[in-house]
Amino acid sequence: MRQLIHKLYSRGGLSRDEIVYLLARLDAGVRKELYGLADRKRREKYGDKVFLRGLIEFSSYCRRDCLYCGLRASNRSAERYRLKPPEILDCCREGYGLGYRTFVLQSGEDPWYTEEILVNLIQEIKAEFPDTALTLSIGEREDRTYQRLYEAGADRFLLRHETASPKLYQTLHPSMSFDNRRRCLKVLQEIGYQVGAGFMVGLPGQTADDLADDLLYLQALHPDMIGIGPFIPHSRTPLSGAAAGTIEDTLAMVALARLMVPDALIPATTALGSLDSEGREKALKAGANIVMPNLSPIAVRTKYALYNNKICTGDESAACRHCLELRIHAAGFSVDMGRGDSLKSFQVK
Ligand code: 5AD
Ligand code: FES
Repeated sequence: MRQLIHKLYSRGGLSRDEIVYLLARLDAGVRKELYGLADRKRREKYGDKVFLRGLIEFSSYCRRDCLYCGLRASNRSAERYRLKPPEILDCCREGYGLGYRTFVLQSGEDPWYTEEILVNLIQEIKAEFPDTALTLSIGEREDRTYQRLYEAGADRFLLRHETASPKLYQTLHPSMSFDNRRRCLKVLQEIGYQVGAGFMVGLPGQTADDLADDLLYLQALHPDMIGIGPFIPHSRTPLSGAAAGTIEDTLAMVALARLMVPDALIPATTALGSLDSEGREKALKAGANIVMPNLSPIAVRTKYALYNNKICTGDESAACRHCLELRIHAAGFSVDMGRGDSLKSFQVK
């Protein structure tokens, strides 16, 4: 086991069988070693810096019906809201004042925000804050729209692949296409975005083989960012009775992702922090190096409920920023408020 992990550390690759073998035999000792090596790899690449991103959840409307997600269109009890462009700009102003230099605009798949509205919004944000990086996380759109949004000034795009298992993907995403999701990720990369992919851990029916495929897919795609979080059931979804993913399994996947895609930016996700009060700190110690505090107005925070018991829904942005700084320092890391571009993005293409 130790040999396998050290091979991964020094060579960055394992076969599918080796990953499955490893996942089946993770005991406390092996995990500790794995987290330690991932931490070391992150330090080699990015030092002890943790980058902060200001997350603005601007619409809870969604046209999709993902079985796991509280924002799914069929959830009639979900409270919906839309922040209008001037309100989004206000969030950016507050964030900029607090020191943020990356804004992540995230929403359900909401066609109210047409290409034109988004282009104008992006141009306004970039005109007012030219020294910031702008990340979009708005789901699937036409290739041409992706292109226009990039030209308007968007720098990065998060689109998790959610799971590398075609069968599981199809069950969880009625009327969506596994192939199109992957195609979108390719298109986004070709356009020039820094791209984030990623997946959930502990989805009902997910196997160790599936998780190995998630890692191998990420290695082949080589995204700039990798978001990994535990599945957490939401009470008003068809998966309300399913068990949540575990902290330990999620941390193992974070560590393996760090070793297999060493130059990626990897967030300590809110879902991890929601499952375990120390979840984000544990992720930082297992190879993660991003935290994404919420900049959305307090009044809408609880309405962006992808899953139950989400953290930081009652905290002012300033308090959250302060709280995180303390937490990051206490965990032994330093806060970097810069744009925090991925190492890959500096390579000559
Ligand atoms: N549990 C955990 N993560 C979830 N997401 C959506 N619903 C859930 C849930 N119930 C994740 C998806 C999505 C990201 C924004 O949040 O991976 O891409
Ligand atoms: Fe948001 Fe602590 S991280 S309040």
